[in-house]
Amino acid sequence: MKISIIAAIGKNREIGLNNDLLWSISEDLQNFKKITMGHYLVMGRKTFQSIGKELKGRKLIILTSDPYLSVGDHYIAHSVEEAIYLAEKNGEDELMICGGAKVYKDFLPKSDTMYLSRVDWEGDADTYFPEYDEAQWSLQKEDFYPAKSESTPSWSFLLLHKVKE
Ligand SMILES: NC(=O)c1ccc[n+]([C@@H]2O[C@H](COP(=O)([O-])OP(=O)(O)OC[C@H]3O[C@@H](n4cnc5c(N)ncnc54)[C@H](OP(=O)(O)O)[C@@H]3O)[C@@H](O)[C@H]2O)c1
Repeated sequence: MKISIIAAIGKNREIGLNNDLLWSISEDLQNFKKITMGHYLVMGRKTFQSIGKELKGRKLIILTSDPYLSVGDHYIAHSVEEAIYLAEKNGEDELMICGGAKVYKDFLPKSDTMYLSRVDWEGDADTYFPEYDEAQWSLQKEDFYPAKSESTPSWSFLLLHKVKE
């Protein structure tokens, strides 16, 4: 099973503030929907709570250390290994890692692909995408999206594959 990270990150790797996103870019959200549709999504308990709505057509695996947490018909995992096991057991071919900070960090060494939206934005944040070695990732695709209005930043979509050793 392939493991893929999907994230939208600011100029200084900012990803969130006060358990919310830092910008709202509809094209990026549509892109997220298109890439993740039909797949299992792994996310931390806080990201799940901050989304606060159904993600139609996708199954969620929510990471928590809480042995009692149960969330509707979503899967709960208490470790990275358990999350991978659950997805594999259900026949997933590309597991999507959707944050936040520690979840990205934990899965980074196990990931094959990154779908990164690099947003031309910098400012206050309390959650950051982990530092990664750019030499380990080869750029397969880069598309630039200009700002649609004064309140939406421009951004670039990057598809990266991990360089095999
Ligand atoms: N820009 C983006 O692409 C993007 C994507 C996702 C999230 N975000 C933003 O990031 C912020 C949320 O991220 P966050 O880093 O604060 O929290 P988070 O990763 O969503 O959730 C953290 C929680 O997940 C659980 N967890 C994480 N790793 C685990 C592991 N290996 N094993 C067991 N449980 C684990 C723990 O839950 P318990 O406390 O229940 O034990 C932990 O407290 C929000 O601001 C959100 O909007 C941005």
